[in-house]
Amino acid sequence: MKKRIAIFASGSGSNAQKIMEHFKYSQDAEVSLILTNNPEAYVLQRADNFEVPSHVFDRHEFYHTDHIVELLNRMQIDLVVLAGFLWLIPANLLKAFPEKIINIHPALLPAYGGKGMYGDRVHQAILDNKEEESGITIHYVNEHFDEGEIIYQARFRIEPGDNLEMVKFKGQQLEHQHFPKVIENLLKKVDGHKLTD
Ligand code: GAR
Repeated sequence: MKKRIAIFASGSGSNAQKIMEHFKYSQDAEVSLILTNNPEAYVLQRADNFEVPSHVFDRHEFYHTDHIVELLNRMQIDLVVLAGFLWLIPANLLKAFPEKIINIHPALLPAYGGKGMYGDRVHQAILDNKEEESGITIHYVNEHFDEGEIIYQARFRIEPGDNLEMVKFKGQQLEHQHFPKVIENLLKKVDGHKLTD
């Protein structure tokens, strides 16, 4: 049976798009569900384009009910992927999917992570500090922002004169290139309800 991926995203969903493209013709896995807290998120249009079902939820449903856990279980989701999703994951979800929730972050964690560090804010902080390199981090999710065990990192150089758009572009290129492949490799290790070595 194909492994089943659920993606949480709050915004544009360019990573979600790359992941859906990557698995569109896969025999081994599929994107089965897109979830978002933002009814205006462009990721919903992308889900429609790929004929992937989606679910919009609000804070109450996410933090004060078991609806999301029940939905993911009902859909037999094997791996939960956060791709530009900005809310902290609640305990019931972490418990239901131990070591089966991963996130992508646009910096080399543990640097430039934590609450409030997302999207352009991360790149701007990196530029303000005149860093000479940046990168991306894919990591397991725990109860803190950006602190779970690191699965994969990739780096790029920041050249003199690189502006916010350029740094963001270089990071996005790396995300799009690596995230689907890292997911594919992780799925090979998914066994029942946990990832094994
Ligand atoms: C990505 O760059 C991702 O790393 C970042 O949000 C962007 C979403 O882009 N995530 C965070 O900053 C999490 N702290 P997308 O909607 O185009 O995939």
